[in-house]
Amino acid sequence: MNGRERFLGFLNRTPIDRPPMWIMRQAGRYLPEYRAVRSGVTDFHQLCYTPELASEVVMQPLQRFNLDAAIVFADILNVVDACGTEIVFGQSGGPCITKPIRSSRELDNLCFKKETLAPILQTISKLRIELPNHGVIGFVGSPWTLACYAVEGQITKELSQIKTLLYKEPLVLKQLLEHYCEAACWFVEEQIHAGADCIIIFDSWGGALGCDLFNEWSLQYQQTIMQAAKSHPVFLFTRNSYAYLDSILATKPNGICIDWTCPLPETLKRCQNQDVLLHGHFDPKLLHASDEVIQQTIRQTLDHIESHRHWLPSLGHGITPDIEPNKIKLFLDTLQQYHWNLAPLMTI
Ligand code: CP3
Repeated sequence: MNGRERFLGFLNRTPIDRPPMWIMRQAGRYLPEYRAVRSGVTDFHQLCYTPELASEVVMQPLQRFNLDAAIVFADILNVVDACGTEIVFGQSGGPCITKPIRSSRELDNLCFKKETLAPILQTISKLRIELPNHGVIGFVGSPWTLACYAVEGQITKELSQIKTLLYKEPLVLKQLLEHYCEAACWFVEEQIHAGADCIIIFDSWGGALGCDLFNEWSLQYQQTIMQAAKSHPVFLFTRNSYAYLDSILATKPNGICIDWTCPLPETLKRCQNQDVLLHGHFDPKLLHASDEVIQQTIRQTLDHIESHRHWLPSLGHGITPDIEPNKIKLFLDTLQQYHWNLAPLMTI
């Protein structure tokens, strides 16, 4: 069974020999070969918008590790860029928007230039041809999370600018979210046409909204994007999402990605009951532990799960630049050598 067959089998609930493997940010700065390519371009945008370079960095972790799927190399903020807002990716400290959107005046400057995203679609088409034995994953940012970056300018965990806008000028924020939602729907449809096997919606900042606001300001837009994907598999990733699990499951996604703050056995059981797939769970910082602790943590976690059929075990967030590549190999080897229980579950 090759990686693509395993990945599609997992998505389609057909028999597989073991869960497929892929990790968020598997291509990135923790790899010296990525840093070499990155140092040869003027900025991060150039990497995202050059299909030859973007696909080269996608291949890098596949050459090192036994992975079953690849995620297109780009960024959720490319959509913000395509909508006319300039983003600067500095050497460290995260992305910065020099002219944040804070009033109806800035809304007038929004325009969606689809051609900006064309190179990312070309990267997906190229990967689809060059990686016949791997799944190919596309992605988009949730409108709420894109708006967090666009309104905050330089993000902090208080999100004070966007929350001020939400309470003071809700109609302005609604218009911004609708604008991003329309762009995201188009982008998702095109990624599917280009060959993406599955789409992830990254809602990295949805967790900051709280239960009363989450549906109205984040989830409903994610639902619209899912509808644009039609019956194609879509995974929803909201960081810190356990409090919203029922609302998220009610939208009937194909799958959800979880971080380490969600209790795994309970979350998996609730997902399995509704035939929803699960991705993620482990804290990337676990990879700073000794090899013995990493192996023991993985095995103990897996031993506590009755059936592993609905779970693609992985890190619950992206690999950070401080992680040793050898620890990723150990993480994947430990998972791959485990004796999985993949018996199909009776679902209700
Ligand atoms: O391998 C992959 O996962 C694919 C590529 C990918 C990147 N960003 C590359 C990237 C993906 C899927 C993303 C998604 C993304 N980008 C999210 C959602 C997931 C999450 O992390 O919560 C968010 C919130 C962003 C926004 C963003 N882009 C931030 C906060 C940063 C800076 C912080 C950081 O991790 O570096 C970026 C820049 C970025 N995106 C880099 C990479 C490899 C580093 C840029 C560089 O090489 O200089």
